[in-house]
Amino acid sequence: MTPRLIAIDGAAGSGKSTLARLLAMTLGLPYVNTGAMYRALTLAALREEVDVEDEDALVRLMETLDFTLRPAGRPEEPQPNPRELWIDGAPPSDELESAEIEANVSAVARHPGVRAAMRAAQRALGEGGAVMEGRDIGTAVFPDAPVKLFLVAAPQERAGRRVEERGSQEVAGALLERDRRDALVNPLVPAEDAVVIDTSDLDVDGTLGVALAVVAERAPDLLPGSTQP
Ligand code: C5P
Repeated sequence: MTPRLIAIDGAAGSGKSTLARLLAMTLGLPYVNTGAMYRALTLAALREEVDVEDEDALVRLMETLDFTLRPAGRPEEPQPNPRELWIDGAPPSDELESAEIEANVSAVARHPGVRAAMRAAQRALGEGGAVMEGRDIGTAVFPDAPVKLFLVAAPQERAGRRVEERGSQEVAGALLERDRRDALVNPLVPAEDAVVIDTSDLDVDGTLGVALAVVAERAPDLLPGSTQP
């Protein structure tokens, strides 16, 4: 078992990024956003004019990307969150959230070779412990994680959150369409031992409270102040 791994899976807009970041900060664990890794590969493909249908070329391109864990925030600031994912020596950029990336990322993510390379990179990042968010972390990347959370929220709620985040109505339809395309190859299902949390009617603190209660039950040694190893 990977003793210090918290897997958080769920669809876009389910609240997983907000929860994963907060939980990482609270528990002093690195924060790894695996969606950003797929988005970074998609950005590289668009830049290098690699066809998103060309699996071999995408796997080769993946080898050129550098995923590391580095301190979050600026060096002179106190570091509440010890480390997070950096891509090619920088924190994930806003560019990764563009409509063009979101229109192409599902095509990149559907190739088995790409997913295998991603799994290997994600396992390497998480081996020392992490809060890792994605869609297949509890089922495929760290099936032995002691804590697995699966976030769900009503489609209208998820779309509404994305509209609020990005300030444009258009993103709502794109989000639901991306869900549909993702589900064709990689059905988004909770691991058998995952705790499903419906965040439709929960605020951020409420969601964090439920998640911390699961950690207390399944891996109490991860809680701050725990004297257990
Ligand atoms: O989580 P986020 O919305 O940033 O993910 C972007 C895309 O990356 C998803 O739509 C999906 O195609 C892919 N993805 C994946 N497996 C993961 C994380 C993301 O296939 N673990």
